[in-house]
Amino acid sequence: MHVVPGLKVLYFGTPVVLISSLNEDGTANLAPMSSAWWLGQSCMLGLGNGAQTTANLLREGECVLNLPSSAMVDAVDRLALTTGKAVVSDHKAKQGYRHEPDKFSVARLTEQASDLVRAPRVAECPIQLECRVVSAHPFGSPSPSATAFQVEVVRAHVEEELVLPGTHYVDPLGWDPLIMKFCEFFGGGHTIHPSRLAEGWNMPHLHRSTAG
Ligand SMILES: Cc1cc2nc3c(=O)[nH]c(=O)nc-3n(C[C@H](O)[C@H](O)[C@H](O)COP(=O)(O)O)c2cc1C
Repeated sequence: MHVVPGLKVLYFGTPVVLISSLNEDGTANLAPMSSAWWLGQSCMLGLGNGAQTTANLLREGECVLNLPSSAMVDAVDRLALTTGKAVVSDHKAKQGYRHEPDKFSVARLTEQASDLVRAPRVAECPIQLECRVVSAHPFGSPSPSATAFQVEVVRAHVEEELVLPGTHYVDPLGWDPLIMKFCEFFGGGHTIHPSRLAEGWNMPHLHRSTAG
């Protein structure tokens, strides 16, 4: 039997992204977010209008999407309830947010220079996607309180051991993303069923697992 509980939150589960961007003064900001999805070489990001990251993306047009593994959950959680905004809104203050100008230090993560964009990468993240903003759209109903950014991935860096040897693909068995589901953290990916999509796309991991 289904019920109609009037759901207040629709966060069914998405990978956590640490998005790095440049502040007005040229320092780096770093923010956890998880309203992100990918199609081809593009990504859509949902960011609240009160975030420093939103202002940075509108101004700079660049960012890096750093994907933490589930083992990095402590670093991600250290960034929760922090904002690069010098003035913390009443709404965020009530939730316990504080201004934090040096997010990399708070998270105990390391800045690594990017190749094509000015925002730095997070050295500890196994996957780092340098991106340029393509477009920004008001998002949210009835009145928009967020911005949907379309970004183009201009360079993808992947920890070597996560690349299937001799291919251009990430090893789905080796990659263990940190998942945010209803504001709780999850990790520990296991394959649970053969995938018809992977077969149709002729994905290399399928050949390997069937061979093994
Ligand atoms: C795990 C996690 C996921 C989050 N996902 C989002 C998100 O998808 N979109 C968003 O606007 N904020 C999200 N937040 C909240 C932002 O981190 C928060 O707005 C923060 O102020 C952003 O930092 P900034 O103000 O320095 O940009 C998330 C926070 C955590 C800890």
